[in-house]
Amino acid sequence: MSKILVTGGLGYIGSHTVVELQNVNAEVVVVDNLANTTLDVAGRIQKITGKPVTFYQVDVCDTPALEEVFEKEDISGVIHFAAYKAVGESVEKPVAYYQNNVSGLISLLHCVKKYKTKSLVFSSSCTVYGDTKESPITENHPIVEAISPYGTTKILGEEILTDFTKFCDTKVVCLRYFNPVGAHKSALIGELPLGVPSNLIPYVTQTAAGIREQLTIFGNDYDTPDGTNIRDFIHVVDLAKAHVKAVDYATSNPISLDVFNLGTGVGQSVKEVVETFERVNDLKLNYTYGPRRQGDVEQIWADASKAKNVLGWETEIELDEMMRSAWAWQQTL
Ligand code: WQD
Repeated sequence: MSKILVTGGLGYIGSHTVVELQNVNAEVVVVDNLANTTLDVAGRIQKITGKPVTFYQVDVCDTPALEEVFEKEDISGVIHFAAYKAVGESVEKPVAYYQNNVSGLISLLHCVKKYKTKSLVFSSSCTVYGDTKESPITENHPIVEAISPYGTTKILGEEILTDFTKFCDTKVVCLRYFNPVGAHKSALIGELPLGVPSNLIPYVTQTAAGIREQLTIFGNDYDTPDGTNIRDFIHVVDLAKAHVKAVDYATSNPISLDVFNLGTGVGQSVKEVVETFERVNDLKLNYTYGPRRQGDVEQIWADASKAKNVLGWETEIELDEMMRSAWAWQQTL
């Protein structure tokens, strides 16, 4: 039976996507180098779905090892998550990000071309839109200069894929994520930031858990209703379900490459999110306001209508549940 290869499939979004693929009886093969996750996530996925995960500890940059997986497994489609993803870290380690994210994609494309893989879903990001003032953002918004090396690797990834599809029959779908948050309702899988979290929600939950002393909200002097940044927070399970739709679309549509924004279409401020977290979890969070963080976009949220109209997908989970599930997950750690 043909299988879907999920690179980075034991990571945060990857593991939730494997669950949703198994929920629709897809045969899944996972490769992960465990740089940003732990092996026990495979067992947790199996606890949720009742189905074993075929796993190979492989770094996608190790082309011979990746080829062995393609040789052994009948891979019809790939979902490519395996990449570094911290905007702030990428500014400190730009070369490591180019090496891992761009070379990893090139290594994968070598296998996709050699084994004539039918479809590839690429994990892209709203960071490709740069510091835009035009929210809600559609997929037609010009791709300008990224504001971080992480964003640059996603722009380069999309450009390489656009060119690649001219020379093979692989159908490609690029998914531009907004801000993934929350955790599976089982609280068996979720975001596992190693070290000090750079993203908002893990910092919020770790502050609530007493692991961090205090949350600093980076700037409350922006030109927004409450002065804090605005983002489009999307539950990771909604995001995962979009990948199942994207795999189906990639294999059934005539277009060689297509792009979708994955967000709720609703902008919410950092302050609103923190207050929602406090309300739904009935707790008081220790937070303060500090200076702006370099590289932050003032406000960005998705126009998600294309994914709704073309993929037949839209988000179902509201912010309250995002915050509730994030806290439930943190309390298991
Ligand atoms: C969100 C907001 C911060 C931490 C993320 C991913 C990126 C991409 C887009 C997928 C900002 C504020 C944060 C803190 C704070 N997603 N904040 N205090 O920068 O929007 O980017 O989404 O590809 O990969 O990183 O997310 O969670 O870092 O910040 O005030 O301690 O929260 O200023 O306004 P960001 P983030």
